[in-house]
Amino acid sequence: MAKVAETSPPPAMNFNIPVKVTMLVQVIVCFGIIASTVSITRSVVQSNVAKLNANLGHLHRPSGQVKSNPASAPNSTAVISNSTLTANATVPSHTEELDYTKLHGYIISNKERRYNSSKVVLDKLGLVSHQHVPLSYKSDAIRKAMEDFHVGNQRYLTDRYKKVFSNRMAFAHLFQDFFDDPKAAPASWRFFFEDDVALHPSLTKALAQKVLARGLEVAAGDGILYLGICGPNRCEKKTVVLSSPVEAMRCAGACTHAFGLTKWKTGGLLAYMDKLKTPNNVNVSVMYFDQLLRTYGEQVHRIWVLGSNLKSPQMNNHYGLVYQDRTNYPSVIMSKEPKQ
Ligand SMILES: *[C@@H]1O[C@H](CO)[C@@H](O)[C@H](O)[C@H]1NC(C)=O
Ligand SMILES: *[C@@H]1O[C@H](CO)[C@@H](O)[C@H](O)[C@H]1NC(C)=O
Ligand SMILES: *[C@@H]1O[C@H](CO)[C@@H](O)[C@H](O)[C@H]1NC(C)=O
Ligand SMILES: *[C@@H]1O[C@H](CO)[C@@H](O)[C@H](O)[C@H]1NC(C)=O
Ligand SMILES: *[C@@H]1O[C@H](CO)[C@@H](O)[C@H](O)[C@H]1NC(C)=O
Repeated sequence: MAKVAETSPPPAMNFNIPVKVTMLVQVIVCFGIIASTVSITRSVVQSNVAKLNANLGHLHRPSGQVKSNPASAPNSTAVISNSTLTANATVPSHTEELDYTKLHGYIISNKERRYNSSKVVLDKLGLVSHQHVPLSYKSDAIRKAMEDFHVGNQRYLTDRYKKVFSNRMAFAHLFQDFFDDPKAAPASWRFFFEDDVALHPSLTKALAQKVLARGLEVAAGDGILYLGICGPNRCEKKTVVLSSPVEAMRCAGACTHAFGLTKWKTGGLLAYMDKLKTPNNVNVSVMYFDQLLRTYGEQVHRIWVLGSNLKSPQMNNHYGLVYQDRTNYPSVIMSKEPKQ
């Protein structure tokens, strides 16, 4: 896998993609915001996505808040205001002693058993695993960040949404960490996981790694890819064979249990992450990172799905190299009181 990390970028990766960057500026926010650790009742959220789409116009670029950092992120509108991201620096940095010849994956988990099990998947993919313990949903930092996010509105301060927000903050911290790492090259990739993942049964370790290596080349110009997706839709017709028989295709969809970003893309996504407030006429769907990523895929550009022809053995309409193992690891957000 070391080879993958060192592969020189194909021409598409030169960041000279003004159109994309401009669009990012408009929709970026939508991206960062949230994370569903785990999918929640999709159907509830689903109906709100249309509203979210209709309201993206609210997400304009706030003047004076954004500064670029050309040294570390060419052309990305990198930024980073720190309000919700640094709400108390209790979150350790993971980047201190990284081996930059390897690919790294971050598993958001506060349960050792689930982390261990997800790590097995990353091992097979050839990724170095890191556990990222999210801020407790009961913490003061989460409550304050949510109050800020919702402009003082208290109605979302329920355990369930706090868990959603904790997950969002965990992704935000990991993105920030990546973006701030001066040793990470702009075109380098990192991977982000929730702790309920499993590798598709048809993949051997060798094939999984081959597919991933090829996928990174295919998606280099986008700077983002899914290793697994729920309910893919609006897929582009073109498919690419990554390594027979495994294919990739660009789609939009839900679930953020397994995805990858380049550093330059991360900078763009973070840019407005803590700028989005819930517009008055849109509700909670904006709190779910995976729904925002779905919107991003629909509105900005479709996102490569590695293993787009590999169907989850558990769920209809879930595809990818990595699927959510709901049988063994039920959603944390849905549970009433997660065991800490
Ligand atoms: C992107 O950056 C490269 C070099 O860093 C520069 O030559 C190019 O003009 C930039 N493109 C845009 C759209 O800013
Ligand atoms: C980030 O937070 C620190 C401490 O809370 C504050 O001193 C600093 O001004 C903030 N920076 C920005 C860009 O908001
Ligand atoms: C997780 O893995 C570590 C290291 O292999 C091991 O020491 C620990 O006992 C495992 N924990 C659980 C709960 O399986
Ligand atoms: C951060 O911690 C300090 C003291 O430990 C506390 O006073 C402050 O309110 C906290 N900030 C947030 C955003 O939680
Ligand atoms: C969100 O919007 C949907 C559809 O308009 C509505 O059914 C639901 O009650 C709303 N939820 C909240 C928490 O406002």
